[in-house]
Amino acid sequence: MTRSAAADLWWKNAVVYCLDVETYLDWDGDGIGDLRGVTERIDYLAGIGVSCLWLMPFYPSPNRDDGYDITDYYAVDPRLGTLGDFVVLLRTAKDRGMRVVIDLVINHTSDQHPWFKSARRSPRSPYRDYYVWRDEAPPTTPAADLVFPDAEDSIWTKDERSGQWYLHHFYRHQPDLNYANPAVRDEIQRIAGFWLELGVDGFRVDAVPFMVEDTDVGLDPHALFKDLRAFITRRRGDAVLLGEVNLPGKDLVRYFGDGPGDELQMLFGFPVMQATYLALVRKDARPLRAALEASPAAPRECQWARFLRNHDELTLDQLDDDERAEVFAAFGPDPGMQLFGRGLRRRLPPMLDGDQRRLRLAYSLLLSLPGTPVLYYGEEIGMGENLEIDGRMSVRTPMQWTDQRNGGFSPVPPSRLVRPAVDGRFGPMAVNVADQRGDQDSLLNWFERMIRRRRETAELGMGQLTLLDAGHDAVLAHRVDEGPVGIVLVHNLGDEPCLVTVELGETEGCELTDLLEVSGQPLGDGGRLELKLEAYGFRWFRLQPADLRSAP
Ligand code: NOJ
Repeated sequence: MTRSAAADLWWKNAVVYCLDVETYLDWDGDGIGDLRGVTERIDYLAGIGVSCLWLMPFYPSPNRDDGYDITDYYAVDPRLGTLGDFVVLLRTAKDRGMRVVIDLVINHTSDQHPWFKSARRSPRSPYRDYYVWRDEAPPTTPAADLVFPDAEDSIWTKDERSGQWYLHHFYRHQPDLNYANPAVRDEIQRIAGFWLELGVDGFRVDAVPFMVEDTDVGLDPHALFKDLRAFITRRRGDAVLLGEVNLPGKDLVRYFGDGPGDELQMLFGFPVMQATYLALVRKDARPLRAALEASPAAPRECQWARFLRNHDELTLDQLDDDERAEVFAAFGPDPGMQLFGRGLRRRLPPMLDGDQRRLRLAYSLLLSLPGTPVLYYGEEIGMGENLEIDGRMSVRTPMQWTDQRNGGFSPVPPSRLVRPAVDGRFGPMAVNVADQRGDQDSLLNWFERMIRRRRETAELGMGQLTLLDAGHDAVLAHRVDEGPVGIVLVHNLGDEPCLVTVELGETEGCELTDLLEVSGQPLGDGGRLELKLEAYGFRWFRLQPADLRSAP
């Protein structure tokens, strides 16, 4: 395909990699990962084909929500380094052609932020109206609206000094900012402008829908994001906003905007992610197919971000109760593996009992559904979780670099680590970067090859999805078309080999190329593709006019 449009909309074909600085690599030897450590690993990341780094919050914070509780938006947590270290990281990433996006956590601050401290001191504080207050006792919060039901039973907390209640959709130590106040909107632009000026390429916007709920002042929710987007685009034409909006499809797409994508350019595809787990459990492609059918195409100037795992609980809140129970039973039967009644606190490899065929099938789907793949650190080597650690932290364990002490993450005694490493079958002794580098068949080397192929197949980021008929419930066949090129993808979610006939539609004058080099594949008569798929097997093909040039 022509690369000119893809270059402007770089995020449509990025391979995004999310990491938590404090658990990636401890360079100064204090037991805590740091920005210098991440900088040291930029070449590793560039080597596997990552083209965009997403850094979880690294700002000063009392760390009661792993940094999602910020006390200063213009600085770096001294445990992780300095602003100078941040700029070196940014500069190094850019030198290797890698973009950097950072978390923009602006639904709330920490209650230790100077704004909230001042607001709390007196109703006459200039910062009082930065937060959302009410005089009367609030109504009971419906259970479904509690994000952390283990810790909170209301989204309002009484401030004893003033007798008023303040809003907090998350923990009570994370008071929500008041977006009805123009001064707050101004502050947010100042913050985003600061980091853009330093050189970041965009933001992962935390907790998007919460920012515009319950303000009670008639604020047009979408005006806020339109303004933010317009501001960001004025400052940096190609900067991206990637929104965390876990809502059903029809509510979700509203955050793309109603102009030609005039709000958040990218949204995480939560409904499709959740359906993927149901499909994996059932070994049946139909739940995924149905979710893709129900998911509107992203507008041309927007994009779905595809993911299988992020740093939170693996939420299954959009499945119905029976479906969720099915996934729990298969992938997390022990109550200690579950969280908040709606999610799992495990990573994929242990859930799949380490079955490499199934793991690769799942990641092949991640890389080939139309959209931009987002990986969570450690997925490339098949890290597991540590269920001994509380709550969501079970999947935020130290990156496993070697089979040495602490997986090569840090030289300190294990008792001084910021968080314990994974133990056992998926821990560093068995799963680490160093060992996998030397093994051609390792997951790491497979990822490197697959990411290279994904990057060469830009149609997957730009094109239009068509679901194809393969005549088999376990098989998802889809096609992504951009201009004269169609990418054809066939995935067998079942545990039995099968023979399928995929109806490709119009193929006159076209040539079919096997993109994964499994073997050559002749194109059958009348646009039919006959294939034998192994259990959990998958194939990628390019279908294009015989005279068109393309990647080898
Ligand atoms: C969503 C983040 O992903 C999560 O980790 C955090 O606790 C909440 N937002 C609050 O910021």
